[in-house]
Amino acid sequence: MTPEEFRTAGHALIDWIADHRARVPDLPVAAQVRPGEVRAALPAHPPTAPEAFDEVLADLEAVVVPGVTQTQHPGFYGWFPSNAGLASVLGDLASGGLGALGITWQSAPALTELEQVLTDWLRELCGLSPHWRGAIQDTASTGCLVALLAARERAGDGCEHRGGLQALQAPLVVYTSPEAHSSVAKGALLAGFGADNLRQVAVDPATYAMDTQDLRHAMAEDAAAGRVPAAVVATVGTTATTAMDPVRAVVEVAREHGAWVHVDAAMAGSAMLLPEMRHLFDGVDSADSLAWNPHKWMGTVLDTSLLYVRDVDHLVSVMSTTPSYLQAATDEQVVQYKDWGIPLGRRFRALKLWFQLRLDGVESVRHRLRRDLANARWLAAQVEAEPGWRVLAPVTLQTVCIRHEPEGLTGDALDAHTLAWVDAVNATGRAFLGASRLEGRWMVRVSIGAEATERGHVEQLWQLLRETASGSSGSERPGQGLGVDHGEAGDRAGEDDVETP
Ligand SMILES: Cc1ncc(COP(=O)(O)O)c(C=O)c1O
Repeated sequence: MTPEEFRTAGHALIDWIADHRARVPDLPVAAQVRPGEVRAALPAHPPTAPEAFDEVLADLEAVVVPGVTQTQHPGFYGWFPSNAGLASVLGDLASGGLGALGITWQSAPALTELEQVLTDWLRELCGLSPHWRGAIQDTASTGCLVALLAARERAGDGCEHRGGLQALQAPLVVYTSPEAHSSVAKGALLAGFGADNLRQVAVDPATYAMDTQDLRHAMAEDAAAGRVPAAVVATVGTTATTAMDPVRAVVEVAREHGAWVHVDAAMAGSAMLLPEMRHLFDGVDSADSLAWNPHKWMGTVLDTSLLYVRDVDHLVSVMSTTPSYLQAATDEQVVQYKDWGIPLGRRFRALKLWFQLRLDGVESVRHRLRRDLANARWLAAQVEAEPGWRVLAPVTLQTVCIRHEPEGLTGDALDAHTLAWVDAVNATGRAFLGASRLEGRWMVRVSIGAEATERGHVEQLWQLLRETASGSSGSERPGQGLGVDHGEAGDRAGEDDVETP
């Protein structure tokens, strides 16, 4: 494609994106396809000759749009806010358009230095201490894995440069809570700690936050048995209920054993932009690493996840590689982000943040976050005031965990009712919700925070929730196959105490 051809097609694509965003509120929220449908609509073999741009655009419209859950829809309350603000979409386009190769400082000095500036800006906007140094990762899952690798090497005294974990005398142990995101356990397993050395510390039964007495007990027990407490992953804003692990107390306990503390604030980190919410993050500055995702609530288009660490020298000692073809005379004077994480090549992700902060301004983001917090409190108040309805966990942020509990309905019958009801909501196309288990029973998470969601939409949702709940018998599964599959509710409920989506 020549630059002139790109200009024509690009204008058409920008027009299409703008039109698409404008009509999103009129689309059904849930993806409208069944498994295999998108694939079946596409040719089995690749094209051998160029096609017209119009044909590609037509397929984008006809095949792709119905196969996407509309997370930018004002009725999107599923999983977590996944805002893709249009200012950051422009930054993403600029990133691809520049075609910069992010492998070393030398390959694109602006890519490195813009990333340094943007991670510093975000740190300052969140009121975090200047001792943090940040890098942009693809996801919080990667951030957690990187943190756990750094923790492993600190506790194992740089064992990767010798016999690795396999040569250590004592097992290294990781602690988290059952409310932590599944990426924490995945990171611990991938980092080689082993499932036998991953402890699930108890949580407070009312708040679902990590119980630091139990953490202290578990760490002391391991240490007494000759094992090495290596890392604690605390979550600020757990996935299911946005529970807040008490980071200050966690750090105090972890320090007694020299263990690394990683804070996973993937969803909730955006709330640090609000000075009045920072008390929820008390103690975060004393942790060893912190990850949060502007690509969730803050609204930077995926993939934009921030990982901050205190001890960059240690991280670099774990991650650094210096093949001769990447060496340059300037190496001593510059940051090499390839040594701060796993991949060598990196995208110019800082442009997405740069465009967003410059074009939208942080005050508009703060205004929107405050709106969402107020909307969550409003919905929780309605639910609490309505007979037969319950709010199941403290509403600390923008997620409201609820259940409709008709009189006399308990156990598996209540689970069936909950799942039928959430499917009925999703099948209307007007809203999209997720179900999750809490203490062995299904509940519904209303995760408020799509950029387009105003109070009026939340009021309409509350109306819809009541209408659909009164019409759901529990024997029908109207929305099954349209994006939410809960498995066999009756069989599975009660297996675990808590499950994160
Ligand atoms: C608390 C928490 N941690 C981690 C993740 C995973 O985030 P990512 O998709 O960036 O890996 C999520 C996403 O749902 C989350 O809620």
